[in-house]
Order: sequence, then C-alpha cells, then structure tokens
Amino acid sequence: STHSIAVIAGDGIGKEVVPAAITCLERIAGIHGLNLAFTYFDWGSDYYGRNGRMMPADGLDQLARHDAIFLGAVGSPEVPDTESLWGLLIPIRREFQQYINLRPVRTLDGVTSPLASDKPIDILIVRENNEGEYSEVGGRMYRGLPHETAVQETIFTRLGVSRAAHFAASLAASRQGRLTSATKSNGIIHTMPFWDEVIEETARQYPGVTVTHELVDALAAHLVLKPWTLDVIVASNLLGDILSDLGSAVTGSIGVAPSANLNPEGDFPSLFEPVHGSAPDIAGKGLANPVGQIWSGAMMLEHLGHPDAAAHLQSAFESALRDGHSTRDVGGTSSTSEFTAAVLTAIDAH
Ligand code: NAI
Ligand code: MG
Repeated sequence: STHSIAVIAGDGIGKEVVPAAITCLERIAGIHGLNLAFTYFDWGSDYYGRNGRMMPADGLDQLARHDAIFLGAVGSPEVPDTESLWGLLIPIRREFQQYINLRPVRTLDGVTSPLASDKPIDILIVRENNEGEYSEVGGRMYRGLPHETAVQETIFTRLGVSRAAHFAASLAASRQGRLTSATKSNGIIHTMPFWDEVIEETARQYPGVTVTHELVDALAAHLVLKPWTLDVIVASNLLGDILSDLGSAVTGSIGVAPSANLNPEGDFPSLFEPVHGSAPDIAGKGLANPVGQIWSGAMMLEHLGHPDAAAHLQSAFESALRDGHSTRDVGGTSSTSEFTAAVLTAIDAH
C-alpha cells in the first residue's frame, strides 16, 4: 500500500535524526512491501531567516494532502522560541485536530535508568494537545511600569477534556486498567475541578478501568520514586509536557522518547516526532541519539495500519541497543550514523 508522508527535518539535530530514521523506514518498507512516498519540506528556522516565517502561508494546505507528517524538531538560538513553536508546530497540532499527544515511557535494555531499581517501566502518557494552558487568551498590560501585568487563561472544554479522557481510558482498558489523571484541583479552583469531573464521568464508562486523581506535584514524585506502578497517565497540555520529559529522563534519556500527535478520527494527518528538541548544544556533531525519531517512525507505521512493520522496526532498534550499540547520551560511544547502521543490520537479521 502507498502512503504519502510529509517530512520536516526542521532544525539542529532534526537534520541528523530524521535522515537516520528515514533510512530505517525505507529498509523496513522494502521488506514489508510498503510504498512510503516521502516529500521533503525545508521549513524551520533557516526558512524563517530567508522568509520571515517558519513555513509558507499555504503550508497547512500542503501538509493536508499527506497521510502523515514526520517531524524532527524546530527551534534555534537565532529565532525566538515563541515564533518557532507558534509558527509551525502548534498550528499543525491545532488545525489538524491532533488533540492527543501520546508519549510512551518505557525502559529499554541497554539504556540505563538513573533510578536504583531495575523494575521495568511501561507507561503511556496521554497529553491533551489542543487546549488547556497553551491558550492565546490573555495579554500584557502596563509594560515597564511597576504594576506591569500578564494574564494567561487556561481553557478546558467538555469536548476537549472528554475526548482525551476517552482515548486514555480505552488505552487503559487494553492494558492494566489503571488510569492516573494529573490534577492540581486543590490550588487551581475553576479549571482543574472541571478537568477532574469530566475525566471521572468519562472513565466511568469503561468498566475495567479505575481512575486515580493525583495532584501533579505528588505525581511527579511518584514518577521518580515508583514509576513501575503507573500504567496510563492522562494530563493537560502543560502538565503532560512536563511529566513526559520527566518520564523520559527517568527511563534514561530524552533522546530515546517518541511521540505521536494524533487525530484519532483520521480526518487530518497525524504527526510523529521525538519528544526532544533541536539540541543546538550538540547539533552537527554526529552525537544525536536517533532512537526517539526511529521509535516515532514505528508509531507512524502502526498508525498507518502496519503493526508488523512497526514491530519489526521496534525490535530492530531495541536489539541494537541490547547488543551494546548506543550514543553518548545513554553512555555509549556510537555516532548517529554508527548506531543507525547497527539498526539496519538488526532489521536485516530478522
Ligand atoms: P532539547 O530537547 O533540544 O535538549 C535538551 C538536552 O537534551 C540537551 O542537552 C540536548 O543535547 C539533549 N538531547 C536532546 N535530544 C537529544 C538526542 N536525540 N540525543 C542526545 N541528546 C539529546 O531541549 P532544549 O535545549 O530545551 O531546546 C532546544 C530547542 O528545541 C529550543 O529552541 C526549543 O524550543 C526547541 N524544542 C523543540 C521541540 C519540538 O520541535 N517539538 C520540543 C522541545 C524543544
Ligand atoms: Mg517538552
């Protein structure tokens, strides 16, 4: 089957890990008889430098014609982060109704967790991806004056919270049935109690699922102290972002963490990207860990309806890690291309 995939490598290490992952995807496609047609877009901070914007005015229309979007990272010291984020990634997430940001947090053999315990960690974080704290409602007043004021509203809608809750509860139902909702309803007295109510009402529709509402400060500690007791976490846009970076650190490195920005209905393309950013501190040196990008590619194959190809790619990078290949961030000595070569070898070996 043929799938057209829009590729935005973006900035920094995106330009290194995306080609690495594409090589693996092409190898997998050849073996499984998939026709992945990649179209490359040179959007990002360099494009911004030339054109004063992160992508063309009709960028979203161009992307809408594809079955999926494969993104590296955007962000550069030369461009304000608000421009890079709101000029590309956030419009894609919102216009394409990618209201779920799914972030697996899992220990991998060969990637050492900084935790003392070696109990396996297997958590799915479901981050609400379209509303919440990341709103455009608010403003700044009295600039430079002593009473200068900034206001930023959090927006939760019944539709937005309940569809995230449905997605998370049905995932939990297919796993251990334990759904943990990140909240802060003791301190944030309007939006968070509403979040709790909608999560509770929705999850009740899933018989095998139990919900625990955990204050996010305690949940952050829980994630560090006993992460192996967590199954599925559902969280708002901001809280989910923070918890998933923490989760990836707990399993070893932000360089291995994948994510899927999903439009579950399939009305629009979904977007697959690693959790990490453009890492300007290591960009261009061949040090970047491509695992987060490759794993995101496996999630893309799964989403496109090819679980066997996805599992093949997944087991290949896991076995490369298990065989002792790894980049510097996880304690190894491989360069990006050496690690990628090890994954290709593992793909062929299966
Ligand atoms: P970052 O994730 O780029 O880097 C944080 C630290 O982790 C750095 O020390 C970096 O070297 C390391 N790291 C990250 N990915 C790695 C990998 N694959 N292999 C080895 N080491 C890795 O986060 P930071 O520094 O906060 O942000 C840098 C830029 O990226 C900023 O402009 C930010 O806005 C942007 N960003 C973009 C995202 C996206 O496109 N979705 C997500 C997060 C940040
Ligand atoms: Mg983040």
